[in-house]
Amino acid sequence: MIRTVTLNPALDRSVSVPGLALDRVNRASGSRVDPGGKGINVSKVIKALGGRSLALGFLGGRAGDLLAQGLDDLGVAHNFTRIAGETRTNLKLDDPRSGTHTDINETGPTVAPLDLVRLESALFEGAGPGDVFVFSGSAPAGVEPGIYAAWIRRARALGALSLLDADGELLCRGLEAGPDLAKPNEEELGRLVGHRLEGRDEILAAARGLLAAGVGRVVVSLGSEGALFVDAAGAYLARGIRVEAVSTVGAGDTMVAALALGLEKGESLEKMIAPAVGAATAAVLVAGSGACDPKAAARYAAQVTWEALP
Ligand SMILES: Nc1ncnc2c1ncn2[C@@H]1O[C@H](COP(=O)(O)OP(=O)(O)OP(=O)(O)O)[C@@H](O)[C@H]1O
Ligand SMILES: [Mg+2]
Repeated sequence: MIRTVTLNPALDRSVSVPGLALDRVNRASGSRVDPGGKGINVSKVIKALGGRSLALGFLGGRAGDLLAQGLDDLGVAHNFTRIAGETRTNLKLDDPRSGTHTDINETGPTVAPLDLVRLESALFEGAGPGDVFVFSGSAPAGVEPGIYAAWIRRARALGALSLLDADGELLCRGLEAGPDLAKPNEEELGRLVGHRLEGRDEILAAARGLLAAGVGRVVVSLGSEGALFVDAAGAYLARGIRVEAVSTVGAGDTMVAALALGLEKGESLEKMIAPAVGAATAAVLVAGSGACDPKAAARYAAQVTWEALP
């Protein structure tokens, strides 16, 4: 079973406002509410791709109830830890006339030490060999940045695998614990090594640096350029597939979902390339953080080309 964690989920309220203007009453032409947050997005895509996962994390208040209901409607299994306070609602204002997307993100509730203890016991309950943990996204106030590192070590002690997709201190500390796979994008990897990465050789060198530090596999996503896949056996550069992008939101989460499915199946890194890039390409054709169409993911997977790098 794949277990995803979302420490600071959000109810995403998307509102379409043609001709959006400040300091005026605006009329919405449509709106929708979706469960959101990195780990939750990964779970939604795993479901769409025919896999199974358990989504965990913190939920609170009425927004938390709505979010859980939304996951039920999607058929995503979940076991969230209830906390005091209200799960945040993130407002996404889309103006179809100007083509702008304006996000207003709330901070989310603070987590108490006891909440973390309760989440940890749910997270690791019954976990063992063959399980895959996906640690992705930011942490709310009250959670220290070594949390993913501690959980990666605990997962390994249980014989389970872990996949890390985070930024800043959470990423830096998490990598020190040696996850089985890490998926930074180019900017996250650059921040990690302390300078902007220029060109393929610098990205490859930085990724190999992570392998030397104990990370099992590194996948660096390069947006429309594709992705670099690196492990001890080799390095492979997959070219991006040219598509008319609708929204690149969630492309990385989609890639993480496909990589988690590959880890669960025990696939080699080479075997993971086509499904990961195929699903991520299909994701950019979907508005917002909606899950990709599995047929489109398979179609693009068949078109992925890559070369082995020396
Ligand atoms: N404009 C695009 N055209 C084609 N493919 C794309 C495009 N943007 C992203 N992709 C695909 O999605 C993958 C992941 O995208 P990206 O590198 O932007 O991830 P990310 O920055 O982690 O995204 P996220 O915002 O979801 O965290 C890329 O490796 C690529 O395969
Ligand atoms: Mg990302």
